[in-house]
Amino acid sequence: MAARRVRVGIVGATGLVGGELLRVLEQRSLPLSELRVFATGRSTGNVIRFRGEDLPLEEAAPGVFADLDLAFFCAGADVAQALAPLAVAKGCVVVDKSSAFRRDPGVPLAVPEVNPQVLRGCPRIIASPNCSTIQLVVAIAPLHRAAGLRRVVVSTYQSVSGTGREAVNELKEQTRAVLAGGQASAGVYPHPIAFNLFPQIEEFGADGYSREEVKLIEETRRILELPDLRITATTVRVPVFVGHCAAVNVELERSMSRAEAVQCLRAGPGIIVLEQDYPTPLLCQGRDEVFVGRVREDPSQDRGLDLWVAADNLRKGAATNAVQIAEFLLGEGQAACG
Ligand SMILES: NC(=O)c1ccc[n+]([C@@H]2O[C@H](COP(=O)([O-])OP(=O)(O)OC[C@H]3O[C@@H](n4cnc5c(N)ncnc54)[C@H](OP(=O)(O)O)[C@@H]3O)[C@@H](O)[C@H]2O)c1
Repeated sequence: MAARRVRVGIVGATGLVGGELLRVLEQRSLPLSELRVFATGRSTGNVIRFRGEDLPLEEAAPGVFADLDLAFFCAGADVAQALAPLAVAKGCVVVDKSSAFRRDPGVPLAVPEVNPQVLRGCPRIIASPNCSTIQLVVAIAPLHRAAGLRRVVVSTYQSVSGTGREAVNELKEQTRAVLAGGQASAGVYPHPIAFNLFPQIEEFGADGYSREEVKLIEETRRILELPDLRITATTVRVPVFVGHCAAVNVELERSMSRAEAVQCLRAGPGIIVLEQDYPTPLLCQGRDEVFVGRVREDPSQDRGLDLWVAADNLRKGAATNAVQIAEFLLGEGQAACG
């Protein structure tokens, strides 16, 4: 990106991730010369408040990208597949929050604390990983650097905001219905989510793994550059509005005491370790860091550790990671790309 102050667009600005991105941009100092906000035609005519100004919502269409340097895509894989290549053809750099390009070997999949090197080749499209992947790799990368990862077993507890605003509304409505003595009927999910949980996030494949589990496994291998990493996952949807948690068990190449693991995690970028307490979804809300607690030596194996990892899925799991990618491109990346 050549300009020092950039013209930025947000596609999907009315959604949960788009809304959080606006808050992150208000709080951080990405050098904006202009901000434009896009959604579907249903949203045109409405405005979005940003730094005391009303920004008119525009329909996302191929023509809009010619006047932008950078576009954050927060509108789903179909929209990214249709519009991101057209945006790039108009000279715009795209940071995409969807799964559209995450498996494309020509598109970097980036978490700036973990693999910033993938952002150095002047990429035009950059994929931001799945929310549960981001918090996992931020937490386990320092352990990998210090002692080598041999195997990872992860079970997640994921909030409904990870699905988008319809799921947030559904949890609210179902909760009200049940508390009023009625029944919760399922809509977005295969089962009612209020006062419930289920080990299914997206559809199952022939091998019994859900699409979320496959994303978590494949994206973790890709980001850590460990294509043969032994890793398995069970992903669970829980009736929480914001904040994903994960119980993580790792086997390392060499043993690490609890004290050494805590020290290593404390030194890891973007991590806050809680030693006397443990992180909860409420504790993480609105925070950009990944929280780690309950660090334990696993007594069932010689070189194992257990951790509890939590983060705000809309912040570090989505909006903050995307903005950090843009900050990197405008800082170190700009020097290299001119
Ligand atoms: N939620 C998370 O924790 C999370 C984390 C990582 C990645 N992601 C990914 O981020 C993306 C957005 O998720 P979300 O949770 O923010 O969804 P959401 O709350 O359902 O919002 C969807 C947004 O996309 C817009 N949109 C839909 N179709 C569009 C189209 N054809 N053209 C332009 N805009 C369109 C909607 O605009 P209207 O208001 O006009 O309908 C709305 O702004 C998804 O790909 C999701 O997988 C989400």
